[in-house]
Amino acid sequence: SIPTPDTVDLEDLNIEETMAFTPDAQLDLLFDPKIIPADVKAKLGDDLHLRPLARTDLQRNHLAVLSVLTSTPNLTPAQYSQAFDTLRSCPNTYYTVVIVAKATDSIVGVGSIFMEQKFTRNLGRVGHIEDIAVDKNVQGRKLGLRVIEALTGISESMGCYKTILNCSDHNIPFYEKCGFEKKENEMARYH
Ligand code: ACO
Repeated sequence: SIPTPDTVDLEDLNIEETMAFTPDAQLDLLFDPKIIPADVKAKLGDDLHLRPLARTDLQRNHLAVLSVLTSTPNLTPAQYSQAFDTLRSCPNTYYTVVIVAKATDSIVGVGSIFMEQKFTRNLGRVGHIEDIAVDKNVQGRKLGLRVIEALTGISESMGCYKTILNCSDHNIPFYEKCGFEKKENEMARYH
């Protein structure tokens, strides 16, 4: 059968239709959107848009979406913008993508990858995926999968020989569906 594009119902988002969609050309983006694989974008319906994080995404629900993952701070636009500059000041290292619901210009999915330069593996690189989150109201509609496909596509195009991540046991089936396999253990020491 022909695959249907991923879409979300506006009613499910509990967000009033107030903001007009902002095209990439009008945004200050974290990285060049051309790095995002076109085939992943094409799988999204016309109502959704996958792009790099923008300097003004605080106002588009970014932290509210991340709050399904962990508690998020109340940042001012200036603090948010400063963190954005910190990421962008490291060339070829930090890539955060967002999925925007065009009807509300609000973020419904988000994920990040950063690139680690190694001395081993013939000066290889490893992509580390972090902070994957999809708005509770639209989970289960392949948006998480699309975020992971975009990030692993970026990882491959940046020459990484592998992409890794940490997750809880209950998310293992999701990452298996995304083509990952369980390897080794995570160790943590909190400060
Ligand atoms: N158990 C079993 N299968 C799952 C699960 C699960 N917990 N979650 C998703 N899947 C399956 C889906 O059914 C789907 O399978 P299908 O292709 O057979 O239909 C496939 O995985 C893809 O799922 P999506 O619809 O893309 O998942 P979704 O958009 O809901 O995103 C995510 C998954 C990101 C885990 C989302 O549920 C979420 O935001 N959860 C809360 C935050 C979280 O736990 N984030 C991940 C933390 S780990 C990290 O950040 C590295």
